[in-house]
Amino acid sequence: MHTCVLDGEKIADREAGEYAITFLEVMREAAEENPHIQWNREDKGMQGQDWTREAFEKITKKMWTVVQRSRGKVPYTTVDGTFDDWSGQGISWWTNGFWGGMMWQLYHATGESLYRETAEKLEKKLDQVFMDNGGMDHDSGFRWLPTAVADYRITGNPESKNRGLRAASDLAGRFNPVGKFIRAWNDDGDASRAGWAIIDCMMNLPLLYWAYEETKDPRFLHIATMHADTAETYFIRPDGSANHIVVFDPFTGAYKESLGGQGYGQGSSWTRGQAWALYGFTLSYMHTGDFKYLETAERVADYFISQIPEEGLIPIDFCQPTEPAWEDSTAAAIASCGLLEIAARVPEEKARAYAAAADKMLKALYDKRCNWDDNCDYILEKCSSAYHDERHEFSIIYGDYYFIEAVWKRVGKEFFIW
Ligand code: GLY
Repeated sequence: MHTCVLDGEKIADREAGEYAITFLEVMREAAEENPHIQWNREDKGMQGQDWTREAFEKITKKMWTVVQRSRGKVPYTTVDGTFDDWSGQGISWWTNGFWGGMMWQLYHATGESLYRETAEKLEKKLDQVFMDNGGMDHDSGFRWLPTAVADYRITGNPESKNRGLRAASDLAGRFNPVGKFIRAWNDDGDASRAGWAIIDCMMNLPLLYWAYEETKDPRFLHIATMHADTAETYFIRPDGSANHIVVFDPFTGAYKESLGGQGYGQGSSWTRGQAWALYGFTLSYMHTGDFKYLETAERVADYFISQIPEEGLIPIDFCQPTEPAWEDSTAAAIASCGLLEIAARVPEEKARAYAAAADKMLKALYDKRCNWDDNCDYILEKCSSAYHDERHEFSIIYGDYYFIEAVWKRVGKEFFIW
């Protein structure tokens, strides 16, 4: 393999000139479409280390066995180590794209067609969701970026592009123009949640950025950036922590209150929400080039880093009581992905600090929270959906997805999904 080392995009965008920018775009697209081309990051603490290469080997070995017995499934969690299947009634669930994302990452890294076929099967199953208005919600990015849009980016399949654009149009249709936010979740037709917005939605904005890139219709861009600006104003607190839910008056757009949502309580710091904010603002910067989003992402990242416990394992909420010491490995994996992307876009000293924080969490997951038994379908242990749920510390598919994405970033094998 030939390796071409290029400077960071930030410098290229601002100083390298038109031809260099076009060259970088062509190289990035080529790397996304061809698993034999690697898009290497410059060395600002970003080169893979021995344990990341070991993790890559272990994941590819384990997943090759897991995929053989799971190919028709739409997994969310595991029962006695075996993936469950949300193909039927649960097909609208927001996490149902992540198995597809894992498949595309594995296909990109290995070229094994079984991964591609499994991803294609799942993508077609998700078509049922388009016919279920109550099943369509703000999480269209989570469902169709790792499936249809990934497929389109890799294969150019026009059906996949169509799916992605249908999903983006639905997401855009949830925009409240007076409050300038994308509405979260649905309700029973009583508009009780018509004014609700959530921090998680920052991760759905890339579907709109992609639709803008494809169609050149600026409505998609405006809706994404207006939502991001509202989130910056009302979700991000002065110390860089983030609210989970913010409630607006859906008729006037006026701010009403913040809610604790899936975290410990009002004003607390639900760790996965902090991770969505950290990665989500980074992605808005990556898609728009607007430095204010990078600055916000850095503020959230600095807060997150200040809260990482000594052992590197992340609780469900940074403000939860000491006992029970419930963890959420998904928050660690998602935040690591975001920190690695920030690290690739900031000056060297900061970059090393962000990469080191990501490594601390990833290494802790690798050493203490990974299951490498081929008879067991999941990888990451101790994932938690919400602090006040009855169940904590189990396997969740997006934990595995983001752990893989983070390791892939570390070893230069990533196919960029968001
Ligand atoms: N709705 C996204 C999450 O639970 O994190």
